[in-house]
Amino acid sequence: MKEKLDGILQSTLANIEAATDLNALNDIKVAILGKKGELTQVLKSMKDVAPEDRPKVGQMVNDVRQEIETSLEAKTTAITRAARAEKMKRETIDVTLPGVKKMDGHRHPNQIALEDLERVFIGMGYEVVEGPEVEYDKYNFELLNIPANHPAKDEQDTFYINKEILLRTQTSPVQARIMEQGKLPIRILSPGRVFRSDEVDATHSPSFHQVEGLVIDKNITMADLKGTLDQFAKEFFGEKTKTKFRPHHFPFTEPSAEVDITCFKCGGKGCRVCKGSGWIEILGCGMVHPHVLEMCGIDPNEYSGFAFGIGLERVTLLKYEIDDMRLLYENDTRFLGQF
Ligand code: DAH
Repeated sequence: MKEKLDGILQSTLANIEAATDLNALNDIKVAILGKKGELTQVLKSMKDVAPEDRPKVGQMVNDVRQEIETSLEAKTTAITRAARAEKMKRETIDVTLPGVKKMDGHRHPNQIALEDLERVFIGMGYEVVEGPEVEYDKYNFELLNIPANHPAKDEQDTFYINKEILLRTQTSPVQARIMEQGKLPIRILSPGRVFRSDEVDATHSPSFHQVEGLVIDKNITMADLKGTLDQFAKEFFGEKTKTKFRPHHFPFTEPSAEVDITCFKCGGKGCRVCKGSGWIEILGCGMVHPHVLEMCGIDPNEYSGFAFGIGLERVTLLKYEIDDMRLLYENDTRFLGQF
């Protein structure tokens, strides 16, 4: 009996020593001390022991059990402690390491160009105002001298909500809205989104932005218009920029013009940016048509004014030498991150 108990004790102690985790220890505990464990079996076989030997054998079994339990406990503590130490080591925070940098957002190139542009006109005393993107046909067309049967409507007449309401095709309706309020003089700049049924390509999009300008006061002449836009071109595109006013037609201005600037890239010699001509078209403008003034409640005999409309994407593309408008809308941070 003694050998048997010794055998159990020695092999169990060796197994405990070799165990590397708590599960292994538990397995050992069950295999030896559990209900069907080896040592428990020995206890159960006590009935075969001669009665006078029982106390002695019982004592021996208890000693073995005690020793195994002590050993299990010690090993459990050792394994737990080692695991905790390992965990601490793994989770150590090195406070001297540089932090993880957060990516900050920044302004879109269109927005940068718009703020530059606004700064120029605010410097000349303009106020920035906004109008609705969903607009009445009346403001978008009628009050701008574009009646229902006007051919100019064909090019623009586009996303209608119903017969009277559409997504504005230009920022010019803000002119009519401001004039109608009757507070004079007027000196406003109105940026915003406009909508046309254009197909997407490198220079077109069904939704883009314009910046409208309007000045109404006594004795405003074409000279004021030319001086203003020439000054804008110089401040926005560079000191040496020259402007050229080409006669054009817009229903709501008379006379009307398109404005070209000398190419800021080649200075007018001709290059890829200006397609060899030395000039780049940047906006439409003109003297506000007397009939438009009248329709909006302003006496054309007392007041006159000028207006202009700048394609925001157009000047953004030019200013940053971007050759495809789609890049402005695709939100690819590899592109946008460059500004
Ligand atoms: N609204 C015109 C367009 O979308 C641009 C324009 C031309 C605006 C002349 C003006 C202007 O204010 O005077 O084509």
